Amino acid sequence: VLCWFYVFPVYRVPRDKDIMEEVLRQRGIWQKNQTGIDLYRKLLTDCCNPQRMFAVTKENSPVGKVLWYDGEFYHWHTVNNKTYSLFVQDNPLDVPLKKCAVVGNSGILRHSKCGRDIDQASFIMRCNLPPLSKEYVEDVGTRTHLVTANPSIIEKRFQNLLWSRKAFVDSMKVYGSSYVYMPAFTMKPGTDPSLRAYYTLADTSSNLTMLFANPEFLSTVGKFWKGRGVHAKRLSTGLYLVSLALGLCEEVTVYGFWPFSVGLDEHPVSHHYYDNILPCKWFHAMPEEFVQLWHLHKSGTLRMRVGRCP
Ligand code: CTP
Repeated sequence: VLCWFYVFPVYRVPRDKDIMEEVLRQRGIWQKNQTGIDLYRKLLTDCCNPQRMFAVTKENSPVGKVLWYDGEFYHWHTVNNKTYSLFVQDNPLDVPLKKCAVVGNSGILRHSKCGRDIDQASFIMRCNLPPLSKEYVEDVGTRTHLVTANPSIIEKRFQNLLWSRKAFVDSMKVYGSSYVYMPAFTMKPGTDPSLRAYYTLADTSSNLTMLFANPEFLSTVGKFWKGRGVHAKRLSTGLYLVSLALGLCEEVTVYGFWPFSVGLDEHPVSHHYYDNILPCKWFHAMPEEFVQLWHLHKSGTLRMRVGRCP
């Protein structure tokens, strides 16, 4: 959710310095912990059943099923023949996924040289249709297996697909034959742009497969993290993907998660690796999310890359 003007980075909380000192202390040390990995897979399976529930499928959402828009008690979508026909039959991912990379969009990726590392993963997830042009390849890689797209991007970047759809179709080619994961039924205004994105890809025989995020899954994952101290109106896309990866993958490495305006070397870090546009409203609590991810890193449950890759 972006506003198209620059805002000075005033959102940083004083505790950022403490977080960074802690990261500096622990940075070099990491050891995989199979018990931690198994525990988190079980916790997430018990609360949220990612394998069955992460996407809206014909199996979990038959005609007549009510999909509740998140936080909007009086709005829902009842699955009808038309919407049902757009759903995939079942979870299409070959679970368990082996080595997963979840790539956030932080400016910490700039000059990280993590592209090769990321591309070596067997399943790569990215957020919000990020640019993968030549100038970024060395830092963020080229391959993608699942990419999220917020309906607001369709609205702002592609004029809601009401005019030319060519720019959208062309820009999606960079994601090859990956899954496009859209929260079509999370907020009511997001449904139409998501369906338009679906039809645009279908009409142009795109290699991409649209998966609609299941609002029930997003809501249970939200509660899971709320119980662990992440208090925000909404989780960030990145944390949803990390949760999905912890539930479905044997090994998880995360890149590009750094919601701070300075790096460990005390140099400024832009909000994104491709620009420094900050969100106009802070729905998320990214520093709190970062602390949770860092706990998981310290316990060997996942690996976080915050500096240059070797
Ligand atoms: N991220 C981060 N630090 C940053 C920027 C992004 O940790 N400085 C992570 C967040 O988990 C975020 C993800 O990378 O969800 C993708 O970033 P972005 O596209 O900027 O997400 P937003 O547009 O802010 O919002 P949303 O999470 O709602 O998609």
